[in-house]
Amino acid sequence: MKTYLVTGAAGFIGANYLKYMLTKYNDVRIIVLDALTYAGNLGTIAPDIDDERCFFVKGDICDRDLADRLFGEYKFDYVVNFAAESHVDRSIENPQLFLMTNILGTQNLLDAARRAWVTGRDEQGYPVWRKGVRFHQVSTDEVYGSLGADGFFTEETPLCPHSPYSASKTSADMFVMAYCDTYKMPVTITRCSNNYGPYHFPEKLIPLIIKNILEGKKLPVYGDGSNVRDWLYVEDHCKAIDLVVRNGAEGEVYNVGGHNEKTNLEIVKLTIATVHRLMTEKPEYREVLKRKDKDADGNISIGWINDELITFVKDRLGHDQRYAIDPTKITEALGWYPETRFETGIVKTIEWYLTHQDWVQEVISGDYQGYYERMYGKR
Ligand code: NAD
Ligand code: TYD
Repeated sequence: MKTYLVTGAAGFIGANYLKYMLTKYNDVRIIVLDALTYAGNLGTIAPDIDDERCFFVKGDICDRDLADRLFGEYKFDYVVNFAAESHVDRSIENPQLFLMTNILGTQNLLDAARRAWVTGRDEQGYPVWRKGVRFHQVSTDEVYGSLGADGFFTEETPLCPHSPYSASKTSADMFVMAYCDTYKMPVTITRCSNNYGPYHFPEKLIPLIIKNILEGKKLPVYGDGSNVRDWLYVEDHCKAIDLVVRNGAEGEVYNVGGHNEKTNLEIVKLTIATVHRLMTEKPEYREVLKRKDKDADGNISIGWINDELITFVKDRLGHDQRYAIDPTKITEALGWYPETRFETGIVKTIEWYLTHQDWVQEVISGDYQGYYERMYGKR
């Protein structure tokens, strides 16, 4: 039985990973550490916490005493560090919070792991590590900066972050590698492209667009909508992390991407068209619309769900033009590939939101409304 410390599992990707792991393996014990910021929702993972295989601890990854206590109590084999401030726009508003969580928090966990996992010294003075332990850092393709019209990010692409968010994630990656180089700490890093799927907080593009359609609001596209992202279904990302934690080579970085480049405008138009199609095929979905004008047949009208909802707003400062990942290394080394085609993943995602409006209401009831007004009121 392996014992995992999974940080940030009340957030989007961490929660999907937790559910994936608990479904796939019987012989794992997972301790979730999450500060429950605006992006963390305990309700998302409440059904998974059973105090036998899955335990929840509310706390900050920057808290040294707490980290030491948890490492002492649970004897972790693996750390999987998802916890982060993850939204680029918020990092432009308040960069320092990103340094605190993403850099200092990661370094605090690295140190706690070092205190707990080192069993001695070799003749050259390097720490000797408990057998089978691993610190896995969940990183992002944004550490590589921005691409022009051609080319892909490989693991050899120089790190060149632009936003405060990506600068903080890059710094965290460099600390992880520094612990590997200096102390021979067993680490791995995955750098993933944009995820989409269930439990995605509705400040990120796809869930925001779905939410705004359902509320009958305008759909804000930054700049001219030509920026490109490489979208990956979240469960495929979770599978990649699981493979790398268990079978990845120590000290290695693996890029994880969907082979699925789309401009933001394409994503928004596709989301509009898919919501419209699903509501045509299953008229009962229309009940979740806030706007309830009736058509000539007395059904809730959906004629207004079209591209006219799109509004082009002021561009993000320093907006990276294009991200695209070459995942050859993880495919060749570990047999991973993006299994979910975008056409399938986007339908699953939209249907999930149409049938989980209670979850959306729960997560937006906190700080999010004030943030939304600040962010889009001024654009
Ligand atoms: P998220 O914002 O949805 O969730 C982050 C979680 O971390 C939340 O549950 C939050 O409560 C928790 N958290 C924040 N600060 C904390 C702290 N100081 N201590 C403990 N917990 C804290 O993020 P996400 O989209 O699920 O991303 C997870 C990880 O994956 C992040 O490290 C992110 O950089 C990385 N990543 C995300 C994407 C993406 O498309 N979303 C792509 C590549 C990489
Ligand atoms: P986002 O989901 O914030 O992810 P990231 O910035 O990490 O890639 O944004 C994805 C793309 O969508 C990005 O190019 C910015 C753009 N975008 C909009 O056009 N409108 C929006 O309201 C948001 C949130 C993002």
